[in-house]
Amino acid sequence: MSLTIGKYTVPYPVVQGGMGVRVSGAKLASAVARSGGIGLVASAGLAVNSPHFNGRNYFTADPLGLKDELEKAREFAPDGVIGVNCMVATTNYDDMIRAACEYGAQLIVSGAGLPMNLPGLTADYPDVALVPIVSSVKAAQLIARKWHKGFGRLPDAVVVEDPDTAGGHLGEKMENIGSGEYDQYATVRGVKSYFRDEWQLDIPIIAAGGIWSREDLEYALEQGADAVQMATRFVPTEECDAADAFKQFYLDCDKEDIGLIMSPAGLPGRAIIKNFEKVRQRDVELNVSCPSNCLRKCSYKEGRERFCIVHALDRAQRGDVETGIVFCGTNAWKADRIETVQEVFDDLFPQAATSASADAVNQ
Ligand SMILES: Cc1cc2nc3c(=O)[nH]c(=O)nc-3n(C[C@H](O)[C@H](O)[C@H](O)COP(=O)(O)O)c2cc1C
Repeated sequence: MSLTIGKYTVPYPVVQGGMGVRVSGAKLASAVARSGGIGLVASAGLAVNSPHFNGRNYFTADPLGLKDELEKAREFAPDGVIGVNCMVATTNYDDMIRAACEYGAQLIVSGAGLPMNLPGLTADYPDVALVPIVSSVKAAQLIARKWHKGFGRLPDAVVVEDPDTAGGHLGEKMENIGSGEYDQYATVRGVKSYFRDEWQLDIPIIAAGGIWSREDLEYALEQGADAVQMATRFVPTEECDAADAFKQFYLDCDKEDIGLIMSPAGLPGRAIIKNFEKVRQRDVELNVSCPSNCLRKCSYKEGRERFCIVHALDRAQRGDVETGIVFCGTNAWKADRIETVQEVFDDLFPQAATSASADAVNQ
């Protein structure tokens, strides 16, 4: 039942998915780590709501924001396993990877693009486990060949993210999402056998997207996944770092409110879309110019097309769900109460919860 990635082992096969712009910060990541999963601080956009930011120094404030979150997470979960999620599409990707290593991340989970240079950036920190996120066997093959040839290294685990169900930016073309062609567990098994057959390597393959309940988790494991990465389920928790209004938006949403948007990053994204017109209008109406150059490629930066994503995500994280964008997976409508992270783990692993309470009674 446990999960080992590189040098790190946790009791439960659960990774909490990184959620950018302070939705998964120190509080959520450390709570998951304390409950026996792997907690991830998302590195994207940590500058904007940090004490280090003066409106002009995004690239200085961003790594300092990450340092603060990692230090807090370590303080709250001294014995837990804590990593960082980094998005390849961000302008300061290299700096954030280096900062993650320097400030104590035990693993780096990286997607929203193929993390081709990740082993080079982390070469001085060989104990940091490296985990790419892919949505196809082909992407896993490209990464493995490049890492092996360029750096003599292979992934310590791989996250296979399902574009038909996951939240946030998605690694698939808009027209292919929901077409019924994507087979999540065939991809999981394909990635697993690729590493076994080609590299004689038995690394954990982690299924991400659409996992909410104990049944979903058991199904994922039955279908060949070694572990799961879950994000949406951890949003309506006490410890999630987003504002209460962000969590309430989950509690209030229906299935029909969840949909796809085109992000200025050029990738589709899944979000609660009922406020989307307002999100789009805001920056255009206020004629906001690109404030921080946070993405390498951005249609807002280049042509004022769509909206400024880092600030739309930041507004939502702080509780403005009228003009902020609330990312979510397809299961967000299932949220009907705010739980603690421990309650989520007790629901996913009831036997462990029963024996822990029996221990408490016997003491
Ligand atoms: C609010 C939110 C923000 C997200 N932000 C990121 C991110 O910054 N980087 C990333 O790689 N994935 C991000 N994701 C994707 C999750 O890490 C995860 O892989 C995916 O949502 C799993 O599916 P689930 O939400 O159905 O459990 C985000 C997801 C959500 C719901």
